[in-house]
Amino acid sequence: MSFLAEAIGRIKPSPTIAVTDKARALKAAGRDVIGLGAGEPDFDTPDNIKQAAIRAIESGKASKYTSVDGIPELKAAICRKFKRENGLDYKPSQVSVGTGGKQVLYNALIATLNPGDEVIIPAPYWVSYPDIVLLAGATPVAVNTRMEDGFKMRPDMLERAITKNTKWLIFNSPSNPSGAAYSRAEVKALTDVLMKHQHVWVLTDDMYEHLVYDDFVFSTPAQVEPLLYERTLTLNGVSKAYCMTGWRIGYAAGPEPLIKAMATLQSQSTTNPNAAAQWASVEALDGPQDFIPKHNKIFKERRDLCVSMLNQAKGINCPKPEGAFYVYPSCAGTMGKTAPSGKLLKTDEDFVTELLESEGVAVVQGTAFGLGPAFRISYATDTKLVEEACGRIQRFCGNLK
Ligand SMILES: Cc1ncc(COP(=O)(O)O)c(C=O)c1O
Repeated sequence: MSFLAEAIGRIKPSPTIAVTDKARALKAAGRDVIGLGAGEPDFDTPDNIKQAAIRAIESGKASKYTSVDGIPELKAAICRKFKRENGLDYKPSQVSVGTGGKQVLYNALIATLNPGDEVIIPAPYWVSYPDIVLLAGATPVAVNTRMEDGFKMRPDMLERAITKNTKWLIFNSPSNPSGAAYSRAEVKALTDVLMKHQHVWVLTDDMYEHLVYDDFVFSTPAQVEPLLYERTLTLNGVSKAYCMTGWRIGYAAGPEPLIKAMATLQSQSTTNPNAAAQWASVEALDGPQDFIPKHNKIFKERRDLCVSMLNQAKGINCPKPEGAFYVYPSCAGTMGKTAPSGKLLKTDEDFVTELLESEGVAVVQGTAFGLGPAFRISYATDTKLVEEACGRIQRFCGNLK
């Protein structure tokens, strides 16, 4: 019998982190590798945010434990953010701050799930959702979306997936990995279904809220359907829009009893999130926001570049997503072909492995996100490198036999 807990056997290391590590190792060994696996902006944290952390450290405000689920100043800034950007009224006692959006998500799921509970997760999905559900002993219920629907779950698909055991729908728009973002009407069509099933809660992961292009207007479920407010946890964070992945601050707002339970769990694991990072996050949310459209202009150019170049690659079909910094092309047209190494491509994992071996481009296979054959490209890297990588993908596909 293994010394390790049975629960650990139900989960696996994050495949996106694995690809990033592999690309880093190949680079360190002298290979010319372009890593398009990482889910973080290539831009540095804005200076005003860094300075706020430095001030907190120098004034001693970052030296001690803080209240477990966030300093009052940050909770107040988060309430202002929800009101200003989403039209949502939350009190500080309804807000939880953790070490990244991932911990907040983890707290919410571990604090609510029992064995037998089901959690609906549209696929392709962010890799951590099903694994945290499994760790809790509950059952992830993947709903496969279709490329023809822009990788968005249709209301009839949601309706069919709901059972008496459904506890949560995890909703993520814009999506990691597909970049798909739901319009207000598309969100409403799903909240209409949830209104018929009063026992189902929605955990909306709005982490990529600010990263939308072409005048797309972001909406979140509790804003679109105010009657859902009482059974919605609205999750967000500073990692992506504020270029703060290393700082590890995420937050959520929802009903007080849930927020309290999440704080209890956090008090028995990590205690408060890093104090200096919390002060930096106050500045992120309250300070100037003007760098966001500047970054988005660059992200949009890269998205358009990827979509156009990948659609010229033989056997690749790349839809144009509304947001995030990912594209999710299908590689179905390359399956059954043979790579330059002689390897037959039977799965998208074969595709990404051979692409890395022969062209030094690191991407993540779609099956890691629950829907293949496809792969995810993160274009949050230098535009020249994105262009070079897409050119190499074209060459790789052109050389398949
Ligand atoms: C959809 C989604 N939600 C949540 C997170 C977690 O973000 P954080 O870095 O704040 O933990 C990520 C990060 O990759 C993500 O892609």
